[in-house]
Amino acid sequence: MPATIVLGAQWGDEGKGRAIDYFAEHADFVVRYQGGNNAGHTIVVGEQRIALSLIPSGIHYSGCVPVIASGTVVDPKVLIEEMDMLFRRGFDPTRVRLSSNAHLIMPYHRKLDAVIERFLGKNQIGTTKKGIGPAYTDKFSRFGIRVQDLFDPKIFAEKVETALEEKNKLLARLYNTLPMDAGGIVDEYLGYAERLRPHVTDTSLLVNEAISRGDTVLFEGAQGTLLDVDHGTYPFVTSSNPTSGGALVGSGVGPKSIDEVVGVAKAYISRVGTGPFPTELHDETGERLIELGGEYGTVTGRRRRCGWLDLVALRYAVRVNGLTRLFLTKLDILSSFETLKVANAYVADGERHHEMPPQQSILYHCEPEYEELPGWGDDITGVRDFDDLPKEARRYVEHIQDVAGVAVGWVSVGPERSQLIEVS
Ligand code: IMP
Repeated sequence: MPATIVLGAQWGDEGKGRAIDYFAEHADFVVRYQGGNNAGHTIVVGEQRIALSLIPSGIHYSGCVPVIASGTVVDPKVLIEEMDMLFRRGFDPTRVRLSSNAHLIMPYHRKLDAVIERFLGKNQIGTTKKGIGPAYTDKFSRFGIRVQDLFDPKIFAEKVETALEEKNKLLARLYNTLPMDAGGIVDEYLGYAERLRPHVTDTSLLVNEAISRGDTVLFEGAQGTLLDVDHGTYPFVTSSNPTSGGALVGSGVGPKSIDEVVGVAKAYISRVGTGPFPTELHDETGERLIELGGEYGTVTGRRRRCGWLDLVALRYAVRVNGLTRLFLTKLDILSSFETLKVANAYVADGERHHEMPPQQSILYHCEPEYEELPGWGDDITGVRDFDDLPKEARRYVEHIQDVAGVAVGWVSVGPERSQLIEVS
C-alpha cells in the first residue's frame, strides 16, 4: 500500500490511532493533513503510553518521518512541548517535518474560541477550545499567519498588530473581554522560531518525492467524516476537511498518487460535542457502551455520546471518501450484548431515507430503522482469524460490508497491537 489515506468514517474517536499505528510500522512517512491539537491519540510502546495531539503516529518507529502538512493549524507551543516530551521519553523528534505554509494558532484564536462558544449559549458547538475554528477562519479570510512568517520578524510583528486591531475590537466590544497585547505575543512566538526552524520545509515536495521513489506514505486524518466542514453535520463540525479530498489539498498531492483509502469505524458509534445523532442511546444500553468502551475524550476528557452502529452514515462515508476498505474497531466491546441493533435506514415524517437526508433539519428528527442481529456472548479478544469468530460476530461484520458497500479489511478485538484480525 504505497500511498494510503487512513481517516475517520464517523464522528471521530473511531480508534484511528490504533489503525494508523498498525500501518505506520511499515511506513516511511506519516502525514497529518488537517486539524491541529484538537485531535488526540495515544500510542503504546512497551510499557509507555504516549498521548499526542499534533505529531502524527509513527514517531516511535525509527524509520518513519512524521510530517505536519500545510492543511493543518499549528500551535507552536504545543508542538514544541510534544517534541520535548518525546525526547524525554527516549524518542527522536528531530525527524518531525513541518510545512512552512501551515497556519499558526495564535493566543487570540484560543481566546476567541472560548468566548464565541460562550456567546453561542445553547447553540454552542462544543469545540475543544484549542483555537481551531478561529485559526481556520483567519486562514480563509486571508488574515492568517503562517509558520514561515516566524522567520521574518518584521512581517510577523506587522501581521500580529494588524490582526489584533481587529481582534481586540471584537474581544472588547462584542465579547466584553480584555484586549490582548501584540508585543507579548510577538515576543513569545518569535521565541519559538529558532526551535522550529530545523523542522520547517516544503512538505508537499517532500511527500511527492517520497511517492515518486515508491516510499510508503500514510496520510493520517484527524476527527472524522461527519465532522468535515463540507460533508459533516454542519455547523456541528470541525473547521477543516478530514475527508479524503482534504488529504490531497492539505498535503499538496494529486489524486492519482493515492492507492487506498481506509475508513476507520467503530463497531458502534460515538460523538462528542453537540449536533444531531440519530442512533444515540439515552438509556442503560448507551451507558453500557460508554463504560465498556471507555468512551471519554483523549483531549478534553469529555464523556462521549454513544449509540448503535449507523450504517446510513457509514455508507455516506464510503461515498464521500471513496473508501476502498474499512478498519473496524472495538468489536469486542459488543461481546456481552444479547442482541445488537444496526440502523440500515432512517424514517422521518413517514419518509424512508436510505441515504443521509439532504437537509440537516430532517436529520434532527430522523428515527433509525433498526435491524436486530444476534449477539455472540463469547469473549473474542483472543481470536486472530476471521473464521474463528463466532458465527454471529462474522454475520455482524458481513452485514456491515453488505449494507455499507465496502469490504472490511481489518477487525480489532482488543486494545493491544496484536489483537487484530486481518480479514482481506
Ligand atoms: P473544534 O475542532 O475544536 O473546533 O470542535 C468542533 C467539533 O469537533 C466539536 O464537536 C468537537 O467535539 C469535535 N472534535 C474536534 N476534534 C475531535 C476529535 O479528535 N474527536 C472527536 N471530536 C472532535
